[in-house]
Amino acid sequence: MKQIYIQTFGCQMNISDSETILSSMTPHGYQQTETLETADLIVINTCSIREKAEQKLRSYVGRLKPIKEHSPHLRIAIAGCMAQRVGKELLRSMPIIDIVMGPDQVRDLPELLEARDYSGKPIVRTEFEPEDTQFNLDHRTYRDKSSGFVPIMKGCDHKCTYCIVPFTRGTEKSRPLDSILEEVGFLIHRKGLKEITLVGQNVNGYGRGTAFDFPKLLWRLAQIPRLHRLRFITSHPKDANQDLANCFRDIPVVSPYLHLPIQSGSNAVLKRMKRLYTHEEYRDSIAMFRTAQPRLAFSTDIIVGFPGETDEDFQDTLKLVEDIQFDFAYSFIYSERPNTPATRLKDDIPLDVKKKRLFLLQKKLQESANAKSLKLVGTEQELLVEKSYEKDGAFYVEGRTDTFKISRIATDRSYAYHDLMRAKITSTYETTLLGSDLTLETHPTHQSTIHTHASL
Ligand code: 5AD
Ligand code: SF4
Repeated sequence: MKQIYIQTFGCQMNISDSETILSSMTPHGYQQTETLETADLIVINTCSIREKAEQKLRSYVGRLKPIKEHSPHLRIAIAGCMAQRVGKELLRSMPIIDIVMGPDQVRDLPELLEARDYSGKPIVRTEFEPEDTQFNLDHRTYRDKSSGFVPIMKGCDHKCTYCIVPFTRGTEKSRPLDSILEEVGFLIHRKGLKEITLVGQNVNGYGRGTAFDFPKLLWRLAQIPRLHRLRFITSHPKDANQDLANCFRDIPVVSPYLHLPIQSGSNAVLKRMKRLYTHEEYRDSIAMFRTAQPRLAFSTDIIVGFPGETDEDFQDTLKLVEDIQFDFAYSFIYSERPNTPATRLKDDIPLDVKKKRLFLLQKKLQESANAKSLKLVGTEQELLVEKSYEKDGAFYVEGRTDTFKISRIATDRSYAYHDLMRAKITSTYETTLLGSDLTLETHPTHQSTIHTHASL
């Protein structure tokens, strides 16, 4: 067998695309390795969302130089958003690269490798595919993770002025229903998974312009027997409507967790970002979702230091965060991306001001996240196990509540990575829930099982 090493940077779409890349190579005699030095093929799936992500790729490739010098047969492929954005230029600055392929080429690596070896020259292929061939995803190879990632759409029709995604992923394309049903069915019934995460840049754009929209998709998937938890990521607030809120209320398998990026609490900044909503409308959406499902947990994304962000704008963001009390959040310093509309705005905020704002924001976000977790002390939770390990002679499992909270639970039995367990939450460490295994309390005669790595 030949060995393929895959390094994935970026978002949920890249994780899903890396699974497709691996699946395309397995029929050609490749198996995944965790050791760079023994790889015959290294694939780096890249991200362009911020400049830092691109710098990461450049330094990563720099570290591969000595490995390539030792094994001239090694092939290096750069996939994903940065490959799409930078294309040929990557070859000029990093000549050890053999293949540059965009997100629409995730199934084409075998053919590209052949072309590379036949021509003896590096290959660049980054055209957007007019057809949705990337959704023909039969026989995908998956990570051994408790949540099965299923792509349902790609691209984005929104034109946020800071965002590179429309350039790297193109316009929205929805995956045919039959193909989604087949993959979800496979993951539930053949792989034994209990949770599915539907992924897309804007899942709420699913079926845009047709009668079969995203809430209808959720209703349809909920009919699949033995599907226990259904999640999705990411949603644009403009497309998150009452029908979606009702899904959280009426469909038991839809997990009570929603990622809804706000980006800023200031209407002036939201307007310059072209987010298509005001902070009042965003607050109304949150209230609508909370009314429909009071248990709903929320996370968000926030950018600080967008061009022209005044101190008052930033205070509006702090106020919004204070009012909404997110369960957790990702926050970033604005990073200018080439050719995006925001490049026409003057990036006028000094870096030290941006850093200070990020610090203050993260402090506030951490407070509400910690408080949200603390509220769960004393409750019983169902956890989906992600991993199981031994530390200082004690055994633990890590898992997620249905509200997506990370939990670390003491136990004396072994769990597989996608088992369900019940736990009593007794304390927290920052946002992590700590507790004990209720299975043990309800079965006092239970004997400890012997842990082996094979069972983990
Ligand atoms: N600069 C900083 N953060 C960005 N994001 C997207 N584009 C940029 C940028 N140019 C953030 C947004 C988005 C998340 C995935 O990354 O908050 O929701
Ligand atoms: Fe990064 Fe966006 Fe591409 Fe995901 S879609 S890899 S976040 S640039």
